[in-house]
Formats: sequence, C-alpha cells, structure tokens
Amino acid sequence: MSLVVKLMAKAASDFVRVSSTGEIPEGKMKKVTIGSQQVLVVNVKGKFYAIGNVCTHLGGPLDRGILEGNEVECPLHHSHFDVTTGQVKRGPATRPEPVYDVKVENGSILVRPKQ
Ligand code: FES
Repeated sequence: MSLVVKLMAKAASDFVRVSSTGEIPEGKMKKVTIGSQQVLVVNVKGKFYAIGNVCTHLGGPLDRGILEGNEVECPLHHSHFDVTTGQVKRGPATRPEPVYDVKVENGSILVRPKQ
C-alpha cells in the first residue's frame, strides 16, 4: 500500500516523512507520494534512495518493476534506471528520473526534491 503525504501547508523544499525504515527492508522499494509527485524509495544494502516512480519512457510504474542491486527495471518495456543517480542504464527510456534527497532520522525516512 502506498503512503500518501499531503503537503498542504508545507513548502516543496522541506523534507517530508514518507515511511519508516522498517517498512522498506533491504532490497525492497516502495511508492510514496509527495504532493502530486510519485516517488520511488529504495533500500540498497541498507542505504535509502529516492527517484521518480513514473518511467520517463511512457509512464510505467517503477514500483511494480524488478529491483536488482541498484537498478530498477520498468515493468512495461524494461528500461533500467540506476536508483542512486536516476540515470538510464538501458532503454528505450532516454531521460533520467528526477532524484530526491533522502535522510533517515529516528527510524523515519524523509525525502525532499533535490535543491
Ligand atoms: S514505460 Fe517504462 S520502459 Fe516504457
């Protein structure tokens, strides 16, 4: 189940709590929502990363794809993105995913758009 975070009174540049660390075990990923943006939060070897969840090719849901190491494969046409950088590792996608800043505090994962 995705966690919806509404940002009614918050500036877009603020860190927002999107999940607890326990909800995303190593090697797993989760879709969260910050305002109107779908974000994919991933645990790679105990470190958390966040990129856009909507494939830059034709909008496939990356959270329903396959995660291997630090690459997620889109379920629609199998583009690969590096979850640590947002870069395309395999097409047909050509544009990178947006990357979000992530920090962990007291067992919570906080995310904000890169400044
Ligand atoms: S929508 Fe993701 S590869 Fe086409």
